[in-house]
Amino acid sequence: MNQQTDDDGRLRHLLTLDGLPAATIRGLLDRAQQLHASPAASHALRGMLAGTAVCTLFFEPSTRTRSSFQLAATRLGADVLNFDAATSSTSKGETAVDTFRNIEAMGVRGFVVRDRIDGAVAALASAARPGTALVNAGDGRSAHPTQGLLDMLTIRQAKGDRFEDLAVLIVGDIRHSRVARSDLHALRALGVRRIRACGPGSLLPDDDTLQGCEVFDDFDAALEGVDVVMMLRLQRERMQEGLIESIDGYHRDYGLGVERLRRAAADAIVLHPGPMNRGVEIDDAVADGPQSRILQQVANGVAVRMAILEAVLGR
Ligand code: CP
Repeated sequence: MNQQTDDDGRLRHLLTLDGLPAATIRGLLDRAQQLHASPAASHALRGMLAGTAVCTLFFEPSTRTRSSFQLAATRLGADVLNFDAATSSTSKGETAVDTFRNIEAMGVRGFVVRDRIDGAVAALASAARPGTALVNAGDGRSAHPTQGLLDMLTIRQAKGDRFEDLAVLIVGDIRHSRVARSDLHALRALGVRRIRACGPGSLLPDDDTLQGCEVFDDFDAALEGVDVVMMLRLQRERMQEGLIESIDGYHRDYGLGVERLRRAAADAIVLHPGPMNRGVEIDDAVADGPQSRILQQVANGVAVRMAILEAVLGR
């Protein structure tokens, strides 16, 4: 945790939401909301990172996170370098740390990093020079902090700031989900008292990830009266791994359709981090329906990522 803040408590890197104070999270949400709502506030930041180079260093695929960081950095006036792992010298065996150090040596000050290995972004942060900032764009199963923040912003826009009054349900493959872990850290920090988790036992974590949550394997029971339903992507390889019986069975038991959604509060909202498996964990009529906030999440991603880049690089 201390690795990501200076002695004065300001963010140097953003690696995880675990242990990040509620005041810091709320400050980032306030700033993102301002940037989202006010073209003038956003415009005022144009040029803030002029002369600063930011690299999106992704060792795993991405559509939303990478694109929105590129847009965010561009809107702040940064020079944006998009590292393409597939055509890079990592294919010749160069390590992630050597790759990072070489790009840093070119004068790049900001790195947005995604890696399949837990802790990989923190390891690069340990190797960084003073003044270089790293933002975790998803590492292994551990953390996806900017997704957690944009999810909280989306909830706050729909439900207001009294997080403590909300009942929030997270559904699906929580065991393998970095999104779920970052959401759980943020929900707890913001004071949500009723957090529910639901999925087949084989896809629920066997560590303390769900401490303090109400855990269900019956989706219909879990949905009763909740204000927010956070659906997770089913990674289809879980079937090959024997963790689920069949895709059809998963859809029957854990797929969110219109009928099932009626069990939640009448004004409940539905979130999904993407990419969605339509017809598996979520039906078209819900994904594209009036309670869906899925594209709102994506829109909020740009503002949240501007706020993060401002916080870690804007001094
Ligand atoms: N939500 C999310 O991380 O999506 P991408 O993998 O497309 O970035």
